[in-house]
Amino acid sequence: MSAGADLDRLDSEAHVWLTGPAGPEALPELAPLLDEAELAQYERYKVERARALHLAARALARSVLSLYAPAIDPREWRFRFNEHGRPEIDGPVGGPPLRFNLSHTDGLVACLVTLRLDAGVDVERIDRELNLTGVARHSFSAREAADVRRRRGRDQRQRFFHYWTLKEAYIKARGMGLALPLRRFSYTFPSSGEVAIELDPELGDRAGDWQLALYQAAPEHYLATAIRRGGAADREIVIRRSTPLATECRELTPARLLASAPVGTVFGDDSSESAAETRVPRTR
Ligand SMILES: CC(C)(COP(=O)(O)OP(=O)(O)OC[C@H]1O[C@@H](n2cnc3c(N)ncnc32)[C@H](O)[C@@H]1OP(=O)(O)O)[C@@H](O)C(=O)NCCC(=O)NCCS
Repeated sequence: MSAGADLDRLDSEAHVWLTGPAGPEALPELAPLLDEAELAQYERYKVERARALHLAARALARSVLSLYAPAIDPREWRFRFNEHGRPEIDGPVGGPPLRFNLSHTDGLVACLVTLRLDAGVDVERIDRELNLTGVARHSFSAREAADVRRRRGRDQRQRFFHYWTLKEAYIKARGMGLALPLRRFSYTFPSSGEVAIELDPELGDRAGDWQLALYQAAPEHYLATAIRRGGAADREIVIRRSTPLATECRELTPARLLASAPVGTVFGDDSSESAAETRVPRTR
């Protein structure tokens, strides 16, 4: 994979990089990449699991960004944060107009990279303890909550996390986090393999501007992306699994596309061990 070619590819693609948590044994190798604030945050986390996700996420973001801008060392990236805590690249000056978004959940870290476009990514571990109907009642639209309530067992759990993961991806793409009311937008799954979003006019946004996709990244992990591509064609979404330093793709499990908008191609049971990337064809 040529790094220069990768940057060119972002004109028509969006890239998701996945990695696993980085335990204390990885600290000597990865800590030198992090800045003071990132290291201080690492120290503030007292639970090892949180530390390992933070370390992997920050090392992955820096390493991946440098793949698209090889003249910039991973340690040189500077970040600023909007009022809701979303990090954006703040330097060095002269780099390409990259945008990125991070997500982490037990066992998995994701970094989504686009050129210029607002975009959000969310990963969720779907087998954790949660009051599914209670959270849906408080946080989802009435229609979404009713859909969760009428389902049972594994089906209910899966549908809950379809909504949750997609809802997080959208609020993260907007950069607003929970300041964006979760009940003011609603997802539907018009038919197998399709997802659509409906937005309250008060959100001041256009549903047609968004490219949405939901994947099964691993047996117990969902991944969703929301990309504001406006009137342009859908980006081809490429998902890679790598080390936190993005030096190689070592786990080769393809992600399975569960749903996309407007019409997705279901990415079938490609269990080929040699597949390092999952590619989702453009949908129009
Ligand atoms: C902060 C929030 C944007 C995402 O939180 P999250 O789902 O717990 O965490 P994720 O792992 O997906 O994302 C965290 C990363 O997103 C980025 N981020 C932080 N604020 C962000 C924002 N306003 N917009 C976009 N990205 C943001 C950061 O890189 C952060 O990583 P860091 O904590 O290591 O700095 C926000 O949506 C939140 O607090 N959610 C809580 C979960 C919830 O209640 N969801 C309701 C069910 S639908």
